[in-house]
Amino acid sequence: MTAAVVAPTFVPVPAVPRTAPLGTVQNPLPLIIDSDPGLDDALAIGLAVARPELDLLAVTTVGGNADVRHCTTNALRLLDLYGASDVPVGEGSAGALFGEVVRATEIHGEAGIGSTVLPDASATARPEGAVDLIASILRSHPEPVAIAPIGPLTNIALLLRLHPHLGHRISHLCLMGGSVGEGNTTVSAEFNIYADPEAAAIVFESGIPITMMGLDVTHQAVLYPPASERLRGLGTRSGAVAAELADYALQREGQWYGTPRMSVHDAVAVAHLAIADLVDVAEYDVQVDTGSGPARGRTVCDGLPVRVDRKGRRMNAQVGIRIDRDRFEDVLVDAYSRLP
Ligand code: RIB
Ligand code: CA
Repeated sequence: MTAAVVAPTFVPVPAVPRTAPLGTVQNPLPLIIDSDPGLDDALAIGLAVARPELDLLAVTTVGGNADVRHCTTNALRLLDLYGASDVPVGEGSAGALFGEVVRATEIHGEAGIGSTVLPDASATARPEGAVDLIASILRSHPEPVAIAPIGPLTNIALLLRLHPHLGHRISHLCLMGGSVGEGNTTVSAEFNIYADPEAAAIVFESGIPITMMGLDVTHQAVLYPPASERLRGLGTRSGAVAAELADYALQREGQWYGTPRMSVHDAVAVAHLAIADLVDVAEYDVQVDTGSGPARGRTVCDGLPVRVDRKGRRMNAQVGIRIDRDRFEDVLVDAYSRLP
């Protein structure tokens, strides 16, 4: 008897023109990254520093892959390594709004950066912390600012609750999280959403334009061992560190899939803001399950207009559905070729 393969019953949803803003070299996109560095976060931050289409205004940290103090130290040290120690870092929430603390140290290591020891940073975190740092930038920047949340959404939810009048100063939330299909932390839920479902629900119900780069597309954004050698072959400190982080992730994620691989989840969210046609997106109504059952943290993604209308809801997010893996790897290697 041959094993039957369950044919997913997902409704085919067409790719649509992107609504996320796009930076250009002539007009770099003002961007804040909210992050839990984090192996893939580290590559996403390097990509943001390297791309001339992005103007990285700040990195804020949130507890997720590791405890927030580690994430803050990692963010400061990575920016220093990338020659961007002038980018301010603000430390945010240590944990979720509700529920138990969820970590991913089995993938990212206890300190969130594998077994790599980065040199101390020259800068320190800003005293005002993540939410007030983001708020002050939103108030003062001459144009609305894009935010790329690539960790649990606790800081973004707190920002929206503490500064509801600043929502219109956020041009777009291009987040890594969720999935139309299965999760990774549980069969239902992807890590960033599972770590704080209540925060995610606040964000998806906020009305702010959202692009959700979920596992459906980020599991296509995979590096294999040759990519690590390409990074190491750049002969730079940043390239060497990126290769070291990738090697650690290749082994850790590889244990789950039987072959060395690294899904560079977070870099997909950042790349989309700098490159027009790297990621295909489709329109969905995304709701977050904040219950206490086996579906807690699931992003319930409905792409069928008649069903969404029937619920009296609307499509509230563009969701990544397709990326060219080879091109994505080239984008990462090219970015690191521009870093010290
Ligand atoms: O599920 C992947 C997400 O969880 C990524 O942001 C990774 O850094 C971890 O935080
Ligand atoms: Ca992350």
